[in-house]
Amino acid sequence: MKISLFKFLLKQLYLLFIGLEKKTKNAADQAAVDTMRNELNKIDMKGKIVIGEGELDEAPMLYIGETVGTNNGPELDIAVDPLEGTNFAANNLPGALSVISIAEKSNLFNAPETYMNKISANVKDHDIIDLDYPIKKNIYNLAEFKNKKPSDLTVCLLDRPRHKNIIEELKNLNVNLKLISDGDVSGALLVTEQKHNIDLFLGIGGGPEGVLAASALDAFGCFFQCRFLFDTENDKLRAKKMGITNLEKKYDLKEIITGDSIFCATGITSGDLVSGIDIKNNNFKSETLITHKSTGLKKIIQKTQKV
Ligand code: FBP
Repeated sequence: MKISLFKFLLKQLYLLFIGLEKKTKNAADQAAVDTMRNELNKIDMKGKIVIGEGELDEAPMLYIGETVGTNNGPELDIAVDPLEGTNFAANNLPGALSVISIAEKSNLFNAPETYMNKISANVKDHDIIDLDYPIKKNIYNLAEFKNKKPSDLTVCLLDRPRHKNIIEELKNLNVNLKLISDGDVSGALLVTEQKHNIDLFLGIGGGPEGVLAASALDAFGCFFQCRFLFDTENDKLRAKKMGITNLEKKYDLKEIITGDSIFCATGITSGDLVSGIDIKNNNFKSETLITHKSTGLKKIIQKTQKV
């Protein structure tokens, strides 16, 4: 993937927030979608949205399958979540992000809008953790691998009633918990670096969010596995239309994303990963976590621009 495109994309992400106002959930989301789409359409590429705001009948912009860019340039798959953590942004709470991932054509999973069971950790080998292992086995294996006691490990997961049993089990194992109210792209990425002090991320959250997180986890060389959850007949039908034949399939990271990729998560409100937009004297400062698989780039960059 050309570095010039990469730099251009970065510029667009700084610009993205000019139209963003933290009002209501819908207004904040719409501002983010409009601005991201507008900026994507200026880029010389044949981009296809593979993860977006939903399907055409439910989202007029950045819908799955929409083509973006000037139609001149590389063919790319694009996953977006213009506003990840709409509650956070609408209520000015920590943790709202704007997220995008770009890969070469056909290298990014075309994920349906369903829940996903996911697990991530900063381990390279398979067999240490697995989506299908009992919680206890994952914790004991990870503790042994990290030369720690289970009580030294911290697990991050969404604080949801559906996780009640897992939370109980983790408590019984004396594992430390970081329960997040929303924002599991960030949650999954907290395993990437020691400074976040998270050893394992797991649980059920959004499928699109899982694919986005997977692209950064790939650049960090972390482990990720997932399984989509299709609750309704309609979900199953939509999955089949997208070419998913085995609805029970457990996916490894490499089946979700392959080849080169760029991932950017820009802070809207300050959170665990990056700081939020800071507006002072007609200037705004943004902070973006960026990864670029082929160059090994993994860093947080800051940019100040005029409002
Ligand atoms: P939105 O920004 O779309 O509101 O998503 C926030 C989020 O917390 C995601 O990070 C997560 O994957 C999903 O919602 C979990 O869904 P639910 O709130 O239904 O458990």
